[in-house]
Amino acid sequence: MPGNATLSVDGQTYELPTLVGSEGEKAIDISKLRDRSGYITYDPGLGNTGMCKSSITYIDGDKGILRYRGIPIEQFANHPNFIEVAWLLINGRLPQPEELAGFSAKLTANAPLHEAMRHHFEGFPVNAPPMAVVSAMISTLACFHHQFLTIEDDAHFEELAARLISKVRTIAAYAYKRSQGRPFIYPDPRLRYCANFLHMMFSMPYDQYLVDPDIEDALNLIFILHADHEQNCSTTTVRVVGSSKANLFASCAAGVSALWGPLHGGANVEVMEMLDKIHKGGVTPEAYLAQAKDKSNPARLMGFGHRVYKNYDPRAKLLQQACERVFAKLKRKDPLLDIARKLEELALKDPYFVDRKLYPNVDFYSGLIFRAIGIPTEMFTVMFVIGRLPGWIAQWKEQHDMESGKIVRPRQVYTGKTINDFVPMEQRIKA
Ligand code: CMC
Repeated sequence: MPGNATLSVDGQTYELPTLVGSEGEKAIDISKLRDRSGYITYDPGLGNTGMCKSSITYIDGDKGILRYRGIPIEQFANHPNFIEVAWLLINGRLPQPEELAGFSAKLTANAPLHEAMRHHFEGFPVNAPPMAVVSAMISTLACFHHQFLTIEDDAHFEELAARLISKVRTIAAYAYKRSQGRPFIYPDPRLRYCANFLHMMFSMPYDQYLVDPDIEDALNLIFILHADHEQNCSTTTVRVVGSSKANLFASCAAGVSALWGPLHGGANVEVMEMLDKIHKGGVTPEAYLAQAKDKSNPARLMGFGHRVYKNYDPRAKLLQQACERVFAKLKRKDPLLDIARKLEELALKDPYFVDRKLYPNVDFYSGLIFRAIGIPTEMFTVMFVIGRLPGWIAQWKEQHDMESGKIVRPRQVYTGKTINDFVPMEQRIKA
């Protein structure tokens, strides 16, 4: 246990308490710093700031470790379904059979949208970005389920979580159907979570989509691997909004907006665009890699590198294997997969990437799997939303239950004008 930290400033010395997490990560507690010293800390991007204590997800980026509630991500590769992982994230332990069955039943019962809400989709232009539709419709859930705007107890919260996790999949599928001008397909209570999503995406009233169990498995794995990633941009957004005691629907709708950005959830789209550009532009993988290394060229090897992982992203490893399985099963060839394989092979032995610890991240292979399943590029980030939702819910609940219950309200270092008199309009008009 480290002792106090000492800060000396303006001739004064302050003792600041320290704390250590269960995996040994150390922090200096500055919560009383401003009161005592008049100073705040300055940390743009908050890369050195722990905004909460959390017991949900652990990442060690140097070692390539990701664990949900202590369980290594690799252990999720063959066993559970996404709903079991969602329950684990939200409740902190694996469910008993009857708990999982009860939760699954709630999901099934809540898959359909209110009919009036279904009609809302018709108001969006066909070419509306699906992320805008999904964010709007998650917000709209608050209008139809306002009994959940405040949480009464854990059972009430579980009911809410089940509703949201179930309905987001229907919302996502309807956003896609709307973009295609195709009829909405009601959820089928006989199907499991991923199969039901694929059914709503691809069935037509006159043509039932047959769900391939291997495709269902691949999708299940993708959702699991995206389910939480500690305090990333969208999760932090959900927690910040939740800290004002805003309801879960509003907080998650804000999370969708944060995820939309290309620096966050949008990266899997950029990987596909890169692969497509290499393919169509006749650039060789070798030549593209040279561009990515050239500092005067804005090109980057998309799907490589990570702010936290300085080792192989453990999610990427699992997705690479899943990708090979899906393509083998579908007996499909995709020139973009060949390009991805070659880029990875070259990058992993290139000193530029090796020295900078740049390895494939979660986005490198997920898009190729989506493409093989038939999910269009504009839906990729929406897929990320479905996967990440259990993490947002668990993190919102943790924030909600925090003892201090403080609203997140950072400070700033003001650099604008000092006092500056108002000038009436007539005196402002230039002569
Ligand atoms: N291609 C070429 N060079 C790169 C790349 C890349 N993909 N990533 C980093 N570098 C270089 C960078 O130019 C810098 O070089 P130098 O030291 O010579 O200046 C060095 O590697 C360190 O890079 P950085 O920008 O300091 O790394 P970062 O931790 O700030 O950025 C990143 C991480 C993910 C933004 C970056 O690696 C990147 O832009 N990757 C491509 C985009 C991508 O795949 N994003 C998805 C991230 S995973 C999503 C998620 O988990 O939610």
